[in-house]
Amino acid sequence: MISKEKLNILISEEDMKKRIGEVAAQINRDYAGKNLLVVGILKGAILFYADLVRLLDMDVQFDFMTISSYGNATDSTGEVKIRKDLDTSIVGRDVLIVEDIVDTGLTLKNLKEVLSTRKPASLKICTMLDKPSRRRVEIRPDYCCFEIPDRFVIGCGLDYAQWGRQFKDIWYVRPEFIDTL
Ligand code: IMP
Repeated sequence: MISKEKLNILISEEDMKKRIGEVAAQINRDYAGKNLLVVGILKGAILFYADLVRLLDMDVQFDFMTISSYGNATDSTGEVKIRKDLDTSIVGRDVLIVEDIVDTGLTLKNLKEVLSTRKPASLKICTMLDKPSRRRVEIRPDYCCFEIPDRFVIGCGLDYAQWGRQFKDIWYVRPEFIDTL
């Protein structure tokens, strides 16, 4: 379990909601008149995905993938594996990947490479959060709600050892507690 005594709020629910509205407006402009396959990365992106897709105006279809990432630690293993693949063919489709956070970038770089070989018409990335200072490989999200400093964050779908995903705000682990979670 995770105690909020060890956490502070980084981004409030209200600020996140407002920013998701702005990003959705940008996506609506860019894909006006098209139809979009929105690919959510489970499990972390699920709440952001649900908030975002409800604000999209164009015709949208849903699909989801599960990619392995951290396990229970707060640092990347560098290992990236597809555990659940798409149900849909993406040949000739406009595809938008919706992710919770870009950290080292390993997950999305690998995923983008895999999906590009399947010949989509276009392939873009929308992330709720970005930690650019942690990047190990070159990758830039096309849409991003907030860039954040190098902090381990929880809430709005993001977890620590599967806990805290349902928190309404984005919280960070206070540095003095990072080793005691
Ligand atoms: P990357 O491959 O290092 O970019 O890591 C991406 C994945 O790591 C995300 O989809 C998250 O599941 C996880 N992750 C990275 N940073 C955090 C964090 O601060 N809190 C919770 N999960 C994180």
